Amino acid sequence: MTTAHSYEPDSRLIGTVADGVYAPREDSALLVDVMYKTGLALGSKVADLCTGSGVIAVNAAAQGAARVSAFDICPKAVRCARTNAQLHEAQVDVHLGSWARAAEFGPYDLVVCNPPYVPNDPHCESLPSTVGPARAWDAGSDGRLILDPLCEAVPGLLADGGSLLLVQSEFADPRKTLESLSAAGLDADIVAWEWIPFGPVMHSRAQWLEDTGRLQPGRREEELLVIRADKP
Ligand SMILES: C[S@@+](CC[C@H](N)C(=O)[O-])C[C@H]1O[C@@H](n2cnc3c(N)ncnc32)[C@H](O)[C@@H]1O
Repeated sequence: MTTAHSYEPDSRLIGTVADGVYAPREDSALLVDVMYKTGLALGSKVADLCTGSGVIAVNAAAQGAARVSAFDICPKAVRCARTNAQLHEAQVDVHLGSWARAAEFGPYDLVVCNPPYVPNDPHCESLPSTVGPARAWDAGSDGRLILDPLCEAVPGLLADGGSLLLVQSEFADPRKTLESLSAAGLDADIVAWEWIPFGPVMHSRAQWLEDTGRLQPGRREEELLVIRADKP
């Protein structure tokens, strides 16, 4: 069994990924690493919203979380997250349903989330299904379909002194995330970032993002950001 004492970021736990479930990528890894470096999971009651394969939830357990609840709307993801929790002997309660269900089991010391945040053109979709499940990343024309209601709900999910760690792309208006969280009474800041080359999803959106003035012509990389917000 992996314990908090043996856990190192280099031994980040991934497990298996079923067809139709988001395979952990750079955003997942960045969030797991920030969670480790901040030590926020240790001894905490944690909620992993939008859990997918369960990678963040399982790592939270491995980093010494006292209790982990995870949520996803996709039944395949829920099955996959349960399998990965079992595989790593991690105590994770995986719930089928919207991230908003987390309110039923809160409040939490730590809320972690890698939500869908990729802007999509509502009039056009041409990605082959082999790329993965669109609901794992598509988030409306501004990328904020989940981010906006989430920012509003977070203060109600957190215990006093609790924290949010959220990963998102530069293309989903991180400034708005910071402003919304601050307006809701949290101390919010960007605590980590990483530049990554476009994958197939962003490549398929590049022309549209250029046409709508959100991407400099020819640029094919994006910045991922981790935002931390603390409840006083
Ligand atoms: C980008 S993936 C992240 C998966 C995983 N946390 C990771 O970091 O690898 C987003 C996940 O959110 C789920 N999802 C989409 N909308 C949701 C909602 N309203 N409530 C809960 N989960 C949702 C998708 O099914 C998908 O598994």
